[in-house]
Amino acid sequence: MADVSAGQKSRKPIMAGNWKMHHTHLDAIQVVQKLSYRLSSEDYERCEVVVCPTFTSLRAVQTVIEADNLPIGLGAQNVFWEEKGAYTGEVSPSMLAKLAVSYVIVGHSERREIFGETDEMVNKKVKAVIKAGMTPIMCCGETLEEREAGETAAKVSRQVQAGLDGVDPNEVAAMVIAYEPIWAIGTGRNATPEDANETIGTIRSMVAGLAGEPAGAAIRIQYGGSVKPSNVAAIMAQPEIDGALVGGASLEADDFAQIVRWA
Ligand code: 13P
Repeated sequence: MADVSAGQKSRKPIMAGNWKMHHTHLDAIQVVQKLSYRLSSEDYERCEVVVCPTFTSLRAVQTVIEADNLPIGLGAQNVFWEEKGAYTGEVSPSMLAKLAVSYVIVGHSERREIFGETDEMVNKKVKAVIKAGMTPIMCCGETLEEREAGETAAKVSRQVQAGLDGVDPNEVAAMVIAYEPIWAIGTGRNATPEDANETIGTIRSMVAGLAGEPAGAAIRIQYGGSVKPSNVAAIMAQPEIDGALVGGASLEADDFAQIVRWA
Protein backbone atom coordinates (compact mmCIF):
# COMPACT_ATOMS: atom_id res chain seq x y z
CA MET A 1 0.00 0.00 0.00
CA ALA A 2 1.03 3.60 0.18
CA ASP A 3 4.54 4.28 1.34
CA VAL A 4 4.25 7.50 3.28
CA SER A 5 7.81 7.53 4.62
CA ALA A 6 9.36 10.98 4.70
CA GLY A 7 5.92 12.36 3.91
CA GLN A 8 6.25 11.18 0.31
CA LYS A 9 3.79 8.82 -1.28
CA SER A 10 5.20 6.07 -3.46
CA ARG A 11 2.60 6.89 -6.10
CA LYS A 12 3.07 10.27 -7.77
CA PRO A 13 0.08 12.45 -6.92
CA ILE A 14 -2.03 13.62 -9.85
CA MET A 15 -4.19 16.74 -9.80
CA ALA A 16 -6.57 16.98 -12.74
CA GLY A 17 -8.85 19.90 -13.55
CA ASN A 18 -12.14 18.85 -15.10
CA TRP A 19 -13.40 22.04 -16.69
CA LYS A 20 -16.70 20.44 -17.70
CA MET A 21 -18.69 22.69 -20.08
CA HIS A 22 -16.86 25.88 -19.13
CA HIS A 23 -14.35 28.13 -20.92
CA THR A 24 -14.16 28.94 -24.64
CA HIS A 25 -10.85 28.09 -26.26
CA LEU A 26 -9.73 31.68 -25.67
CA ASP A 27 -10.46 31.43 -21.93
CA ALA A 28 -8.80 28.02 -21.85
CA ILE A 29 -5.57 29.40 -23.33
CA GLN A 30 -5.49 32.14 -20.70
CA VAL A 31 -6.05 29.76 -17.81
CA VAL A 32 -3.29 27.39 -18.93
CA GLN A 33 -0.86 30.27 -19.43
CA LYS A 34 -1.66 31.72 -16.02
CA LEU A 35 -1.38 28.31 -14.41
CA SER A 36 2.07 27.85 -15.93
CA TYR A 37 3.22 31.22 -14.49
CA ARG A 38 2.15 30.11 -11.03
CA LEU A 39 3.73 26.65 -11.03
CA SER A 40 7.42 25.83 -10.76
CA SER A 41 9.46 22.84 -11.87
CA GLU A 42 9.41 21.57 -8.26
CA ASP A 43 5.62 21.59 -8.36
CA TYR A 44 5.58 19.48 -11.51
CA GLU A 45 8.17 17.12 -10.04
CA ARG A 46 6.12 16.56 -6.93
CA CYS A 47 2.75 16.32 -8.62
CA GLU A 48 1.41 15.55 -12.06
CA VAL A 49 -0.80 18.35 -13.35
CA VAL A 50 -3.52 17.71 -15.93
CA VAL A 51 -6.17 19.94 -17.46
CA CYS A 52 -9.27 18.55 -19.16
CA PRO A 53 -10.89 21.23 -21.33
CA THR A 54 -13.88 20.75 -23.64
CA PHE A 55 -13.27 19.14 -27.04
CA THR A 56 -13.38 22.55 -28.72
CA SER A 57 -10.47 23.79 -26.60
CA LEU A 58 -8.18 20.77 -26.85
CA ARG A 59 -6.32 21.93 -29.94
CA ALA A 60 -5.76 25.44 -28.57
CA VAL A 61 -4.51 24.16 -25.21
CA GLN A 62 -2.29 21.57 -26.90
CA THR A 63 -0.68 24.35 -28.93
CA VAL A 64 0.11 26.39 -25.80
CA ILE A 65 1.51 23.36 -23.99
CA GLU A 66 3.74 22.46 -26.95
CA ALA A 67 4.86 25.98 -27.74
CA ASP A 68 5.97 26.64 -24.18
CA ASN A 69 7.04 23.03 -23.53
CA LEU A 70 4.87 22.95 -20.41
CA PRO A 71 4.86 19.81 -18.26
CA ILE A 72 1.07 19.97 -18.07
CA GLY A 73 -0.86 16.91 -19.20
CA LEU A 74 -3.78 17.29 -21.57
CA GLY A 75 -6.95 15.38 -20.84
CA ALA A 76 -10.31 14.97 -22.56
CA GLN A 77 -13.62 14.66 -20.74
CA ASN A 78 -15.15 11.92 -22.85
CA VAL A 79 -14.58 9.72 -25.90
CA PHE A 80 -16.45 7.19 -28.05
CA TRP A 81 -15.06 3.66 -28.29
CA GLU A 82 -15.26 3.19 -32.07
CA GLU A 83 -12.37 4.23 -34.31
CA LYS A 84 -14.47 5.87 -37.03
CA GLY A 85 -17.82 5.64 -38.76
CA ALA A 86 -21.32 7.04 -38.83
CA TYR A 87 -21.49 8.27 -35.22
CA THR A 88 -22.61 11.87 -35.55
CA GLY A 89 -21.26 14.06 -32.78
CA GLU A 90 -18.77 11.56 -31.40
CA VAL A 91 -14.98 11.76 -31.12
CA SER A 92 -12.69 8.73 -31.46
CA PRO A 93 -9.73 7.70 -29.30
CA SER A 94 -7.22 8.16 -32.12
CA MET A 95 -8.49 11.69 -32.81
CA LEU A 96 -7.67 12.54 -29.20
CA ALA A 97 -4.33 10.72 -29.22
CA LYS A 98 -3.29 12.69 -32.32
CA LEU A 99 -3.89 15.90 -30.34
CA ALA A 100 -1.38 14.73 -27.72
CA VAL A 101 -4.17 14.01 -25.27
CA SER A 102 -2.78 11.67 -22.63
CA TYR A 103 -5.74 11.28 -20.22
CA VAL A 104 -9.42 10.72 -20.85
CA ILE A 105 -12.08 11.00 -18.15
CA VAL A 106 -14.40 8.03 -18.55
CA GLY A 107 -17.72 7.39 -16.82
CA HIS A 108 -18.05 10.70 -14.99
CA SER A 109 -21.28 10.65 -12.97
CA GLU A 110 -22.64 13.48 -15.12
CA ARG A 111 -22.22 11.28 -18.19
CA ARG A 112 -23.78 8.35 -16.41
CA GLU A 113 -26.72 10.33 -15.02
CA ILE A 114 -27.45 12.83 -17.79
CA PHE A 115 -26.35 10.85 -20.85
CA GLY A 116 -27.21 7.34 -19.69
CA GLU A 117 -23.74 5.81 -19.79
CA THR A 118 -23.76 2.29 -18.41
CA ASP A 119 -20.97 0.29 -16.80
CA GLU A 120 -20.67 -1.66 -20.07
CA MET A 121 -20.17 1.54 -22.04
CA VAL A 122 -17.61 2.73 -19.51
CA ASN A 123 -15.73 -0.56 -19.90
CA LYS A 124 -15.67 -0.21 -23.71
CA LYS A 125 -14.36 3.33 -23.37
CA VAL A 126 -11.67 2.31 -20.87
CA LYS A 127 -10.41 -0.36 -23.26
CA ALA A 128 -10.54 1.96 -26.29
CA VAL A 129 -8.60 4.68 -24.46
CA ILE A 130 -5.87 2.22 -23.43
CA LYS A 131 -5.70 0.76 -26.94
CA ALA A 132 -5.05 4.25 -28.31
CA GLY A 133 -2.13 4.69 -25.88
CA MET A 134 -3.86 7.06 -23.45
CA THR A 135 -4.72 6.71 -19.76
CA PRO A 136 -8.30 6.51 -18.55
CA ILE A 137 -9.39 8.42 -15.48
CA MET A 138 -12.30 6.15 -14.66
CA CYS A 139 -14.89 7.66 -12.33
CA CYS A 140 -17.07 5.95 -9.76
CA GLY A 141 -19.18 7.11 -6.86
CA GLU A 142 -22.42 6.71 -4.98
CA THR A 143 -25.55 8.84 -4.72
CA LEU A 144 -26.67 10.30 -1.40
CA GLU A 145 -29.43 7.69 -1.20
CA GLU A 146 -26.94 4.89 -1.69
CA ARG A 147 -24.63 6.35 0.93
CA GLU A 148 -27.43 6.67 3.45
CA ALA A 149 -28.48 3.09 2.75
CA GLY A 150 -24.92 1.91 3.51
CA GLU A 151 -24.36 0.88 -0.10
CA THR A 152 -21.27 2.95 -0.90
CA ALA A 153 -18.75 0.09 -0.98
CA ALA A 154 -21.09 -2.18 -2.94
CA LYS A 155 -21.84 0.52 -5.53
CA VAL A 156 -18.26 1.57 -6.21
CA SER A 157 -17.06 -2.04 -6.20
CA ARG A 158 -19.66 -2.90 -8.82
CA GLN A 159 -18.66 0.06 -10.99
CA VAL A 160 -14.95 -0.67 -10.68
CA GLN A 161 -15.33 -4.38 -11.38
CA ALA A 162 -17.46 -3.73 -14.47
CA GLY A 163 -15.25 -0.90 -15.70
CA LEU A 164 -12.08 -2.98 -15.46
CA ASP A 165 -13.55 -6.16 -16.93
CA GLY A 166 -11.07 -7.74 -19.35
CA VAL A 167 -8.39 -5.07 -18.85
CA ASP A 168 -4.83 -6.44 -18.57
CA PRO A 169 -3.40 -6.13 -15.02
CA ASN A 170 -0.40 -4.09 -16.24
CA GLU A 171 -2.80 -1.66 -17.87
CA VAL A 172 -4.93 -1.52 -14.76
CA ALA A 173 -1.81 -0.61 -12.77
CA ALA A 174 -1.17 2.40 -15.02
CA MET A 175 -4.74 3.70 -14.85
CA VAL A 176 -6.27 6.39 -12.69
CA ILE A 177 -9.56 5.95 -10.84
CA ALA A 178 -11.47 8.94 -9.49
CA TYR A 179 -13.78 8.31 -6.56
CA GLU A 180 -16.39 11.04 -6.70
CA PRO A 181 -19.36 10.76 -4.35
CA ILE A 182 -22.17 12.27 -6.43
CA TRP A 183 -23.61 14.20 -3.49
CA ALA A 184 -20.26 16.01 -3.09
CA ILE A 185 -19.99 17.24 -6.70
CA GLY A 186 -20.54 20.95 -7.09
CA THR A 187 -22.37 21.11 -3.76
CA GLY A 188 -19.63 22.55 -1.57
CA ARG A 189 -20.16 19.48 0.58
CA ASN A 190 -17.11 17.22 0.47
CA ALA A 191 -16.72 13.75 1.93
CA THR A 192 -14.66 13.80 5.12
CA PRO A 193 -11.04 12.95 4.29
CA GLU A 194 -11.37 9.84 6.46
CA ASP A 195 -14.51 8.64 4.65
CA ALA A 196 -12.92 9.29 1.25
CA ASN A 197 -9.80 7.43 2.37
CA GLU A 198 -11.83 4.46 3.53
CA THR A 199 -13.77 4.14 0.27
CA ILE A 200 -10.60 4.59 -1.76
CA GLY A 201 -9.01 1.83 0.33
CA THR A 202 -11.97 -0.38 -0.57
CA ILE A 203 -11.47 0.42 -4.26
CA ARG A 204 -7.76 -0.37 -3.99
CA SER A 205 -8.48 -3.76 -2.39
CA MET A 206 -11.03 -4.42 -5.11
CA VAL A 207 -8.43 -3.63 -7.80
CA ALA A 208 -5.88 -5.88 -6.04
CA GLY A 209 -8.44 -8.69 -6.01
CA LEU A 210 -9.19 -8.26 -9.70
CA ALA A 211 -5.78 -7.47 -11.14
CA GLY A 212 -3.32 -8.56 -8.44
CA GLU A 213 -1.55 -6.87 -5.52
CA PRO A 214 1.00 -5.00 -7.67
CA ALA A 215 -1.80 -3.35 -9.66
CA GLY A 216 -3.65 -2.47 -6.44
CA ALA A 217 -0.52 -0.91 -5.00
CA ALA A 218 0.34 0.99 -8.19
CA ILE A 219 -2.99 2.36 -9.41
CA ARG A 220 -3.55 5.99 -8.57
CA ILE A 221 -6.92 6.79 -7.04
CA GLN A 222 -8.12 10.37 -6.81
CA TYR A 223 -10.85 11.91 -4.73
CA GLY A 224 -13.28 14.33 -6.42
CA GLY A 225 -16.11 16.44 -5.09
CA SER A 226 -15.84 20.05 -3.90
CA VAL A 227 -12.06 19.96 -3.61
CA LYS A 228 -10.74 23.50 -3.04
CA PRO A 229 -7.61 25.21 -1.73
CA SER A 230 -8.97 25.17 1.84
CA ASN A 231 -9.64 21.42 2.06
CA VAL A 232 -7.08 19.86 -0.28
CA ALA A 233 -4.29 19.46 2.31
CA ALA A 234 -6.49 17.39 4.66
CA ILE A 235 -7.59 15.23 1.74
CA MET A 236 -4.03 14.71 0.49
CA ALA A 237 -2.83 13.82 4.00
CA GLN A 238 -4.77 10.55 3.69
CA PRO A 239 -2.53 7.62 2.73
CA GLU A 240 -4.83 6.08 0.11
CA ILE A 241 -5.62 9.31 -1.76
CA ASP A 242 -3.31 10.01 -4.69
CA GLY A 243 -4.70 13.28 -5.95
CA ALA A 244 -7.90 15.03 -6.89
CA LEU A 245 -10.25 15.45 -9.82
CA VAL A 246 -11.27 19.06 -9.42
CA GLY A 247 -14.25 20.75 -11.03
CA GLY A 248 -15.19 24.30 -10.04
CA ALA A 249 -11.93 25.14 -8.28
CA SER A 250 -9.87 24.24 -11.36
CA LEU A 251 -11.48 26.88 -13.56
CA GLU A 252 -9.33 29.69 -12.20
CA ALA A 253 -5.56 29.36 -12.39
CA ASP A 254 -4.99 30.81 -8.91
CA ASP A 255 -7.18 28.28 -7.13
CA PHE A 256 -5.97 25.34 -9.17
CA ALA A 257 -2.33 26.31 -8.62
CA GLN A 258 -2.97 26.44 -4.87
CA ILE A 259 -4.49 22.97 -5.06
CA VAL A 260 -1.45 21.64 -6.96
CA ARG A 261 0.79 23.22 -4.30
CA TRP A 262 -1.28 21.90 -1.39
CA ALA A 263 1.83 20.96 0.60
P1 13P B 1 -16.51 20.00 -8.17
O1 13P B 1 -15.06 20.06 -7.79
O2 13P B 1 -17.02 21.23 -8.84
O3 13P B 1 -17.35 19.54 -7.01
O4 13P B 1 -16.63 18.85 -9.30
C1 13P B 1 -16.07 17.61 -9.05
C2 13P B 1 -16.08 16.84 -10.30
O5 13P B 1 -17.12 16.40 -10.75
C3 13P B 1 -14.81 16.67 -11.01
O6 13P B 1 -14.93 15.72 -12.02
